[in-house]
Amino acid sequence: MGSLGNAAPAAAVPEVALRSGNARPIPAVGMGTAVAAPMNAVLAAIEVGFRHLDTASMYGSERSVGEAVAAAVRRGLLASREEVFVTSKLWSTQCHPDLVVPSLRETLRNLQMEYLDLYLIHWPVCMKPGPIAFPAKKEDAVPFDFEGVWRAMEECQRLGLAKAIGVSNFTTEHLGKILAFATIPPAVNQVELNPVWQQRKLRAYCADKGIHVVAYSPLGGQDWSRTGEGNGVLGSKVLAEIARRRGKTIAQVSLRWIYEQGVTWIVKSFNKERLKQNLDIFDWKLTEEDRHKISQIPQKKYVTAAALFSTEGEFTSVNLADMDIVEE
Ligand SMILES: NC(=O)c1ccc[n+]([C@@H]2O[C@H](COP(=O)([O-])OP(=O)(O)OC[C@H]3O[C@@H](n4cnc5c(N)ncnc54)[C@H](OP(=O)(O)O)[C@@H]3O)[C@@H](O)[C@H]2O)c1
Repeated sequence: MGSLGNAAPAAAVPEVALRSGNARPIPAVGMGTAVAAPMNAVLAAIEVGFRHLDTASMYGSERSVGEAVAAAVRRGLLASREEVFVTSKLWSTQCHPDLVVPSLRETLRNLQMEYLDLYLIHWPVCMKPGPIAFPAKKEDAVPFDFEGVWRAMEECQRLGLAKAIGVSNFTTEHLGKILAFATIPPAVNQVELNPVWQQRKLRAYCADKGIHVVAYSPLGGQDWSRTGEGNGVLGSKVLAEIARRRGKTIAQVSLRWIYEQGVTWIVKSFNKERLKQNLDIFDWKLTEEDRHKISQIPQKKYVTAAALFSTEGEFTSVNLADMDIVEE
């Protein structure tokens, strides 16, 4: 992965050059829009300095992201659309070679944009073509044509519809499959990553292959009610103690730790004060002792493929357990 250099003073946020594709450098921090993001929430994120916006066809937030960027340009918060890094994702029902380019064109229509900065395969799971149904049914799962789909992703970049292409929720094994035939290697793997799910093996693998890692759920995710437990990150006693000593919030300690791993992140907040707080992590550092304590935190994955794709057992064509193993 590229080095975290100091970036444009306008945003005062560092950026990372991607090793593959023609995208502008990716900002170290991004705004997530998985939860029905209203246009005003995205606009507030742009206003406080977020320049990476993360959306997906599955989230239903592409229109509000596009409207927020257009509004920000009209209001002079952005000189042009080029000032933001926009990521979107191909959903599992669209993971068929002939559907990839049309799906990206639909995403661009939703966003009212000419190109994406980054287009990702959302999950290494393929479902029958059709409307996005949630949760997915196991009988709709079909084998994933990794080579055919990746060739179509490469076509998206060649056509200039996406400046860079990548994947999300891919393990080292899935990445190996793609790298075996890729003409254009994935620029990014977007995965769950935070002090409670540190992904050490995956990070080392991606660093070796020049694939930049982007962390999602950097504060532990949205809703822990289904697990019957509290949020492992925001509820962490280790992080709370470090936060108290540093005079920071737990959220800031988590986000700073991720940044210090050379990983960029996307966080969701619809609260302007918390948005600002989340950006305020670049003028202080964790100590060696803090890092050691964080390295000892017991690991627990929050987003599980099984919970997303099947409530009634494993898919026939995909071993979902392969995606949830701890790759220490
Ligand atoms: N590729 C994938 O499969 C995938 C999966 C999951 C997520 N994502 C992406 O990653 C984004 C972020 O992940 P996420 O939404 O799962 O979880 P997250 O960003 O880790 O956590 C969001 C939660 O933290 C709260 N929060 C934000 N800043 C805070 C702060 N400073 N202090 C305390 N609480 C704070 C938010 O509430 P408020 O809004 O009230 O501040 C929200 O409830 C998503 O929106 C999506 O774009 C991708």
